[in-house]
Amino acid sequence: MKKDSKKQNKSVGLVGWVDERFPLSSFIKNHLTEYYAPKNFNFWYFFGALALFTFVMQILTGIFLTMYYKPDAAQAFASVEFIMRDVSFGWLIRYMHSTGASLFFVVIYLHMFRGLMYGSYKKPRELLWLFGVAIFLLLMAESFFGYLLPWGQMSYWGAQVIVNLFATIPFIGPDLAEWVRGDYLVSDATLNRFFAFHVIALPLALAGLIMCHLVALHEVGSNNPDGIEIKDTKDKKTGIPLDGIPFHPYYTVKDLTGLTVFLIVFASIIFFAPEMGGYFLEANNFVPADPLVTPSHIAPTWYFTPFYSILRAVPPILGSQFPGVAAMGLSVLIFFFVPWLDKSKVRSIRYKGILYKKWLTAFVISFIVLGYLGTVPSNIWGQFSSIIPLLGGVDIATFVARIFTLIYFAFFIMMPIYSKKDVTKKVPKRVTM
Ligand code: HEM
Repeated sequence: MKKDSKKQNKSVGLVGWVDERFPLSSFIKNHLTEYYAPKNFNFWYFFGALALFTFVMQILTGIFLTMYYKPDAAQAFASVEFIMRDVSFGWLIRYMHSTGASLFFVVIYLHMFRGLMYGSYKKPRELLWLFGVAIFLLLMAESFFGYLLPWGQMSYWGAQVIVNLFATIPFIGPDLAEWVRGDYLVSDATLNRFFAFHVIALPLALAGLIMCHLVALHEVGSNNPDGIEIKDTKDKKTGIPLDGIPFHPYYTVKDLTGLTVFLIVFASIIFFAPEMGGYFLEANNFVPADPLVTPSHIAPTWYFTPFYSILRAVPPILGSQFPGVAAMGLSVLIFFFVPWLDKSKVRSIRYKGILYKKWLTAFVISFIVLGYLGTVPSNIWGQFSSIIPLLGGVDIATFVARIFTLIYFAFFIMMPIYSKKDVTKKVPKRVTM
């Protein structure tokens, strides 16, 4: 009997020919048509698929840009202008790539926030989360390297500021910064190595990490808005989770809805506001890089500004900027520890108590306020100095940034305490809709 049904399931024709040589049908079965995902996914579960889509789109548009772009300090700026003005649909490809970079971060921030809401990092998904944070780190490096390539004023001075941060590290700093630049200042050598990292090294590493992220996801299965393990209640006969539905066609179709909305937003930005008021492409970056003229306002792109604010908020010690640099580094690395900081008995915010809800809200507000403050020019930061004597001589923006930096870190550092103390609700056995 068993042999018969095996025979019945065997593919014929071309697929059968491939199956005998490559596990095509079994792959589709195990990861799509018979991969059971919780039936209660909400819109927060769109963002993983959207991140994947954006990654592929960045690679494809990047390939076409590379066909015309020249990684040479004397030609880079003009080659980008050539793409924008003379290459057929070059403007579209370039705007898709620049808008794609910003939307990638929008999607990733929402994807990470979903993880924090539903406790998707908790056992057994710790490694899935760790791969995610590693992806986030590399993504930041990827966009930093890419930003130098148009060789505009912001590219040049942004890279100068960030590489100089390495120089603040005690003992090895100055040599390290020089090693990263390949020169005494940001130059053609820097552009060439950043190009190599941007177009091959990091995309390759990212692709590998995304693969690991998805393998880890399919090993343990998706979490869901209830934070209930669907594998715990299976149909006795078939062994299929009672609260699971096949990923294909249910979630492939559902994800298409999310993709449609995403593409409407994406196209609206590209066609109506590709610079997004200076947030996606800064005005100063339409001026060729000039090592002799420092722009009055150097700020990173919006997705780095929360971390940049933390850098500016921490005061130098004995004239060294290193404490700020260390705090900025820590503000990203601290995400790695979340699975072990959260001591709550339940996963999802639906069943967590008021403490976690309040702390998560405070964290989101601090992230947004720090993000905003990071876009404010430093000369404005200084303008209101000492207006309020109680602020201890610092300007109001620095004062506010310090308060929110403390809240940002407190969310993580206090987590073992408030997540343990929090009064949680009883988690149902089966998922709710
Ligand atoms: C290129 C970047 C990324 C891609 C392509 C990606 C892709 C995906 C996909 C397709 C899923 C399943 C669908 C979904 O749950 O939305 C997923 C789930 C997940 N991702 Fe990502 N991801 C990326 C970055 C990240 C980052 C930066 C983090 C966290 C730091 C993260 C943490 C997670 C977690 C915890 C889950 C499981 C969520 C759950 O089951 O509730 N991912 N990811």
